[in-house]
Amino acid sequence: MTIQIRRVAINTGGGDAPGLNAVIRAAVISGRRRGWEMFGIRDGYNGLLEPEAYPGGGVIPLSRESVRGITHLGGTILGTTNRGNPLEYPVVKPDGSVEVVDRSDEIIQGLAAHGIDAVVAIGGDGSLAIANALFEKGVNIVGVPKTIDNDLEETVVTFGYDSAISFAAECIDRLHSTAEAHDRVMVVEVMGRYAGWIAVGAGVAATADAILIPEILFDLDIVAEKVRDRQRKGREFSIIVVAEGAVPKNGERSILGKALGQAERLGGIGLQVAAALEEKTGKETRTVVLGHLLRGGGPTTRDRLLALRFGSAAIRSMAAGCFGCMVALDPPVVRSVPLSSAISRMKTVPHESDLMLTARDLGISFGD
Ligand code: F6P
Repeated sequence: MTIQIRRVAINTGGGDAPGLNAVIRAAVISGRRRGWEMFGIRDGYNGLLEPEAYPGGGVIPLSRESVRGITHLGGTILGTTNRGNPLEYPVVKPDGSVEVVDRSDEIIQGLAAHGIDAVVAIGGDGSLAIANALFEKGVNIVGVPKTIDNDLEETVVTFGYDSAISFAAECIDRLHSTAEAHDRVMVVEVMGRYAGWIAVGAGVAATADAILIPEILFDLDIVAEKVRDRQRKGREFSIIVVAEGAVPKNGERSILGKALGQAERLGGIGLQVAAALEEKTGKETRTVVLGHLLRGGGPTTRDRLLALRFGSAAIRSMAAGCFGCMVALDPPVVRSVPLSSAISRMKTVPHESDLMLTARDLGISFGD
């Protein structure tokens, strides 16, 4: 059955990533060209769940004017949140106990109240799992893969990843000269959650000496030996890139905390690695945590293009009556894949991938 589309809402969920505004712009312009009215839901689904919190409206019309000049801007004009998954929403009761409730029916009612026929959901694994659940409950939804972590299946790459690794590589380039000037070891901690894509992508491009990733348990003695080996060859400095989710052999993942209704916050492994390397090698060692700098700022040209292509492909998918799918890059084309397969598992860095083989051929240590 072909769905008659008149009103489409867009939302951005989870951590922001450079390129969100470019997707919104492409979707709004492409939808409006088909005669559809375009809207934006504020802060994930909060605009529907807590409309009273938005004096200007939790669901706002998106005109041609609202998306003018935003392709190159970081962040998202709609706002986003990674708190309170609406499918498992934590509600603190008067006695202090916490009840987890499914608020998806409220989202569906909210969409109906605004006369929304279809939704473009821009997000990572968590937001797309919510999108899939809403699709299974009857919402006409198309997903767009966003995350700096690049850990989504079914797409060769997510938008946001290129911007994150480009900035990380520039930072590592800068650290080379100061590390060399001071004969130091510099440990650079990067985001990426449970996948090492950012660490490997930036580390290989910026010629790190060791890259520690969640996919490979690392042995600090091996990393220290890499530093000493460089020293024997006259290189008095080393650059070690550590993914926030990397785990030492016989050790634990470094977790900063976990708030109610939120994902684990990773971090701190950079400082641990630096302290251990300083002790083992006797070399002065410093840590730099790139953190949210990797998410900030505007998208690279590559991410802008990908985001624009994804936004327009999401609208074409809707026009063709394809819902419950995610637009995905499968070079040279962007195609639609089932949302269910995109969220079926996390995409980690394959050990035998060309990227990893290249890194090993270049002499980069993974601490294994
Ligand atoms: O998923 C994107 C990401 O930036 C991860 O790399 C990181 O672990 C997480 O989000 C940080 O989230 P928050 O901004 O909530 O601290």
